Amino acid sequence: MSTLSLLISETEIATIVQTLAQRIDQDYCGESITAIAILKGSFIFCADLVRALKTPINRIEFISLASYGAQTKSSGQVMITNALAPNLIRGQNILVIEDIIDTGLSLSALWPQLQSQGPRSVKIVTLLDKPSRRQHAISVDYIGRSIADYFVVGYGLDFDQKYRQLPAIYGREP
Ligand code: IMP
Ligand code: MG
Repeated sequence: MSTLSLLISETEIATIVQTLAQRIDQDYCGESITAIAILKGSFIFCADLVRALKTPINRIEFISLASYGAQTKSSGQVMITNALAPNLIRGQNILVIEDIIDTGLSLSALWPQLQSQGPRSVKIVTLLDKPSRRQHAISVDYIGRSIADYFVVGYGLDFDQKYRQLPAIYGREP
């Protein structure tokens, strides 16, 4: 059995989400956005963030990314497994909602794919960031909390698909 140690409590998460929403609201000044949440990990963060935002949201889309990391020949390849409909984001202010940024591979690969579809702007919000693990440069507009190199679970984040239901965020010790 692995041990879980509390890293960010429910109350702290709520404060982080409110702070992020306020910063985002200030930046968009009432302009509307299209939110794109990256499944599965960001589903709970997305649900809380969009309810904290006053910025009008035109639509919320969900995409899944499949990355083929060091174990495969196609290292560095990231595929959107459920692509956005053509022209959906053209001319829109896109807010990408991510649970955690680790190596940066997923978002650095997604970025040009989004840009090629002619959005007006693209910004990224992530609840958590592990900067010490970064291998692919990516400019992140809103970071909830930077953490050390822990493997974390809860609040949507999983280990082997488990623990997503936990309301707080825990470090998982093997
Ligand atoms: P990246 O492409 O290496 O930045 O990986 C990002 C994705 O890996 C995140 O969106 C998560 O889905 C997953 N991930 C990275 N670190 C963790 C973690 O500590 N716990 C759970 N999932 C993680
Ligand atoms: Mg994710």
